[in-house]
Amino acid sequence: MASLKTSVLGIEFENPFILASAPPTASIESIDKAFELGWGGAVLKTITPDDLEMIEASPRYASLKEKNKIIGFQNIELLSHKTIQYWCDGIRYLKEKHPTKVIIASIMSPVDRKCWHELVHKLNDTPIDAYELNFSCPHGMPEKGIGMAIGTTTEISTLITGWVKDVATKPVFVKLTPNVTDITRISKAVERANADGFAAINTVQGFMGIDLDTLEPNLCIDGHTTYGGCSGEIVRPIGLRCVAQIRQSSDLPILGMGGITNWQDAVQYFAVGSDAVQICTEVMVNGYGIINGLKKGLLNYLEEKGMNSISELKNIAIAKITAHKDLNKKYFVNPKIDKEKCISCGKCTRICEESEYNALSMSEKEIKLDKDKCQGCSLCSIACPQNAISMEAN
Ligand SMILES: Cc1cc2nc3c(=O)[nH]c(=O)nc-3n(C[C@H](O)[C@H](O)[C@H](O)COP(=O)(O)O)c2cc1C
Repeated sequence: MASLKTSVLGIEFENPFILASAPPTASIESIDKAFELGWGGAVLKTITPDDLEMIEASPRYASLKEKNKIIGFQNIELLSHKTIQYWCDGIRYLKEKHPTKVIIASIMSPVDRKCWHELVHKLNDTPIDAYELNFSCPHGMPEKGIGMAIGTTTEISTLITGWVKDVATKPVFVKLTPNVTDITRISKAVERANADGFAAINTVQGFMGIDLDTLEPNLCIDGHTTYGGCSGEIVRPIGLRCVAQIRQSSDLPILGMGGITNWQDAVQYFAVGSDAVQICTEVMVNGYGIINGLKKGLLNYLEEKGMNSISELKNIAIAKITAHKDLNKKYFVNPKIDKEKCISCGKCTRICEESEYNALSMSEKEIKLDKDKCQGCSLCSIACPQNAISMEAN
């Protein structure tokens, strides 16, 4: 019998689905509700010293939609507005009511040893299971020298990780930003500073666009905008890449996230090295109830694959990710066209022509392949709306 239970650094998860630090974890009532519905754990909305100024802008979201479905957000929301005392009391309440659920405290503070220590000392006295250091918020906070301003330098991120590790009585995950050229520079540095694990990714810095009627930015605050953090489906390839890169350079646990919308996305995050996964945008859009489909889908999948737990999925793709120079350049695939499925729409010939290969042409509604010109790139099969083209190895 497959099970969704998993253990990370000795912390027992009844399932590997955790709410990411974000609006769905901004209050004790919401987390309570999510736990009732079956989430395995929650990372609290980032807690900061009570005197850290936090003035929100309005509006603070823009979105990217595909056929009216939200596939990504850009947000400029800041951190928790609740006091440390609120969180300390709330954590105690939640743990008493839900002793089997994992509670991770996300924290951020100015670059001051005393401030970080004060925050950690207060939370040490609560029954949290771990810390997550938010070195990765890309908007607002970097202007104060914190958030992503910490996580883009090895010096400050190691310094603070060291400060927290000196006093933390629980494991410390560092939440990394994808907004760097090489995420492993930061992950390796904080590992040397004794971080216990990683969380990745925080939002990807972006600019959602311009309204063509008003020529104002999509996220427009009284005529102006600022760069924000993108999340949801649109960032999944970046999240998967970052988690894989961290895994290729470290054996420490990773809480993977970025664009997870269903159990299939989660499986991919396990395959590239995640020990558990966090979700934010999909919960905001479709509600805490998505946990049922996530758990059921993952359990069925494990059973179909004859696997007992997600530990058998973990890292499965890592050995398959290599440098371009090490790929087998003798391997070659040719398109095979299923004439029954082809509707002669011309999408394959157009993409082949416009991409300079000119290997496909249409004659009397039939697709012809010039094998000498075909470079085996696979664009035709990607463009086909009928799945009529498969790529087959020579
Ligand atoms: C509105 C919003 C607020 C967020 N606030 C926080 C935060 O306070 N602390 C934090 O570490 N990450 C924060 N995040 C980032 C998420 O935790 C997560 O890393 C990111 O959204 C990617 O996951 P997703 O694609 O499932 O949303 C926030 C994201 C959004 C959309």
